[in-house]
Amino acid sequence: MTHEVVEKNVGLLIVLTLLVISVAGLVQIVPLYFVHAVQEEHGSATKPLPGLEPFTALQLEGRDVYIREGCNNCHSQQIRPFRAETERYGHYSVIGESAYNHPFLWGSKRTGPDLARVGGRYSDDWHRVHLINPRDVVPESNMPAYPWLAENVIDETMTPRKLRAMQTLGVPYTEDDVAGAADAVKGKTEMDAMVAYLQVLGTYLDK
Ligand code: HEC
Repeated sequence: MTHEVVEKNVGLLIVLTLLVISVAGLVQIVPLYFVHAVQEEHGSATKPLPGLEPFTALQLEGRDVYIREGCNNCHSQQIRPFRAETERYGHYSVIGESAYNHPFLWGSKRTGPDLARVGGRYSDDWHRVHLINPRDVVPESNMPAYPWLAENVIDETMTPRKLRAMQTLGVPYTEDDVAGAADAVKGKTEMDAMVAYLQVLGTYLDK
């Protein structure tokens, strides 16, 4: 049987396996270059959503705190195109929204709600109270408390370098952005940064 020949011949098996993977890869990648219609509306992995702006220095610091605290272990940032999801969270996520996210934080683990469009859903004060002690606003919450965010002050000497790092990944920060980055976060707490970050999530699609 042909199948047996392939299974007993390692060299042939490797060649055929590589062939299958290559074709399967091309089938996934090549169409991405031809979906201009979709890209116009929603951007792409490399082409940002029209009107998308890079995170401000403060939001970027907030995102780093979000990663450090492992918020993404319980919260996804990706709304799937299903009715149950869009009714709860809003318009499904589109790829061009994530163009300036390095690394992206889509995730799939949802101990808590998806946060892809949490921006603007609550007031800044709600977030502050919630992060210091979630049970003060949501009595049945099992989310951990993060009271230290309100005390830790951001080290502004690192911020310009973080913007530079993002520049090397293609995020269009200007020289003015980098020059003003330290002043923009000086004296701010991690709580200020976190709230600024949460409030911008998912807000570009409708603009
Ligand atoms: C152990 C899992 C867990 C971790 C870690 C966690 N959360 Fe939550 N989060 C939850 C749960 C559960 C809820 C729903 C109850 C509530 O609102 O407190 C929630 C709710 C939220 C909400 C309100 C969302 C909405 O639409 O109502 C925000 C905002 C939020 N979390 C932000 C954060 C941030 C920021 C961090 C990291 C500093 C974090 N969470 C870490 C479990 C978690």
